[in-house]
Amino acid sequence: MQDRIAQVRAEALAAVRAARSPEELEQVRIRYVGKKGELTQLLRGMGQVPPEERPVVGRLVNEARDAVEAELAARQRELAAAALETRLSAETIDVTLPGWAPVLGRRHPLTQVLDEIKRVFTGLGFEVVEGPEIETDWYNFEALNIPQDHPARDLQDTFFITEDILLRTQTSPVQIRVMEAQKPPVRIIAPGKVFRVDADVTHSPMFHQVEGLYVDEGVTFGELKGTLSIMARELFGQRPVRFRPSYFPFTEPSAEMDIQCIICNGAGCRVCKNEGWLEILGSGMVHPQVLRNVGYDPEHVSGFAFGMGVERIAMLKYGIDDIRLFFENDIRFLRQF
Ligand code: PHE
Repeated sequence: MQDRIAQVRAEALAAVRAARSPEELEQVRIRYVGKKGELTQLLRGMGQVPPEERPVVGRLVNEARDAVEAELAARQRELAAAALETRLSAETIDVTLPGWAPVLGRRHPLTQVLDEIKRVFTGLGFEVVEGPEIETDWYNFEALNIPQDHPARDLQDTFFITEDILLRTQTSPVQIRVMEAQKPPVRIIAPGKVFRVDADVTHSPMFHQVEGLYVDEGVTFGELKGTLSIMARELFGQRPVRFRPSYFPFTEPSAEMDIQCIICNGAGCRVCKNEGWLEILGSGMVHPQVLRNVGYDPEHVSGFAFGMGVERIAMLKYGIDDIRLFFENDIRFLRQF
């Protein structure tokens, strides 16, 4: 019996050392010290051993099992270390290889200009609102003091859907919708798409405007000038602006605002057509009839309104000479902003 124990012990230790992988090692463990392993069986066979020999035999088997288990643990550590070594050498990183730059998207130049405009006006206490792109004749024209037979309708060649329904030609109808829905004070800007039958390098059948409206008791033309001057300074930097008398049916008096030409600083060039000035928006004091149309009393409240073309601002700001570039989605163009 004692010889048998010594033999199994020697075999087991040799097998442990010979195991070349965790899987092989596991097989060896099961074979010798598992539930039905050879050393385990020897313990179970103690019944056949004469009682006086049992303590010695039991001790030998236990010693053999401890030795095998210690060897198993040692071999396991060796194999794990070797596996780690192989993995580390396979995973070497060459830090001298050139990196690759992830391709970053950019906001569309029109979105950038619009975000800038929103930032300026929200900072001045204006709220951003939107209105529908499909409008009725009433909101787009009639309520804005442009009656059916008015010559000003010719200024905005219109896409009609029916005789009464059309694609809005301006964001000004949002003025009416906002004033109908709330009492003064009103202080909003309304960005959005507008549509006109027009297409060349500086005109697109769809383009964007930002409308502005401020109505309260005692709003003056001075506030119009102050507010719009601040906006021009924020968008184009410190440069002279001027207000020029103009005409819109829904404002009285009306004015267009120019900034000094950003190309020639007023000296005269191709971009400003030798004027030295660039027009950037239309504006004026809200016409009393418009206030009456929404149920406001022009004896008690007054206000100013303005409207500007987002493409136009972007073209001036970035020196772009063809409006169609904004809508072609040529990535080489868009990447420049
Ligand atoms: N709606 C005008 C246009 O499209 C611009 C404007 C808005 C003028 C508000 C005055 C006041 O030309």
